[in-house]
Amino acid sequence: MDYELKKLAVSDGMDIYEMLQEIPGNEAGAVNAVKGSTFDEFKQWLIRSDSLSKAKGLIDGWKVPTTVYWLYVDGYPVGFGKLRHFLTNQLRIEGGHIGYAIRPSQRNKGYGTVLLKMMIEEARKMNIDRVLLTIRNNNAASINVALNNNGKIERVCEERHYIWIDC
Ligand SMILES: CC(C)(COP(=O)(O)OP(=O)(O)OC[C@H]1O[C@@H](n2cnc3c(N)ncnc32)[C@H](O)[C@@H]1OP(=O)(O)O)[C@@H](O)C(=O)NCCC(=O)NCCS
Repeated sequence: MDYELKKLAVSDGMDIYEMLQEIPGNEAGAVNAVKGSTFDEFKQWLIRSDSLSKAKGLIDGWKVPTTVYWLYVDGYPVGFGKLRHFLTNQLRIEGGHIGYAIRPSQRNKGYGTVLLKMMIEEARKMNIDRVLLTIRNNNAASINVALNNNGKIERVCEERHYIWIDC
């Protein structure tokens, strides 16, 4: 298998658009804003997302610079990941540094685990020492993805697991 993690680019096209139509709009907190959009809206969203990745500091007082990645397996896109460059108090409660989703037709093949592993490497390159994942207690698949990547459960509250991973 050839795994490649690609950063979102304004030139991204139909293969990514189709993947984002397959992934639900908000599943267990993983937000896919492109679900249900037209291709033109998707292209506009790429431009906004690209500039959000290049931003520094808080935007509009609350948005955190975020980089979106695509995992390709043998040239086919199977999922997305979002890496927030730093945390706010709100993100420490809900959101964390990293969110991800694998397209439903490609789940349970180990790709979620690979995607997170490759994103941790990107976080390390950004000089982030450790990343926080906040995962709903009923999301066993995502908790397993984090534990497969040496995640340490810091605490479990009524709604979520708080899992830290050293980069
Ligand atoms: C979470 C998600 C990314 C996992 O992707 P995936 O490619 O299926 O994950 P993997 O194949 O690497 O599986 C990871 C582990 O979870 C287990 N798993 C997969 N689906 C499961 C399920 N429905 N229930 C319980 N365990 C499950 C796998 O068996 C594997 O365990 P193992 O390593 O002990 O064998 C995917 O289910 C998804 O996109 N979910 C919706 C979005 C989401 O929840 N994102 C995370 C928000 S915090």
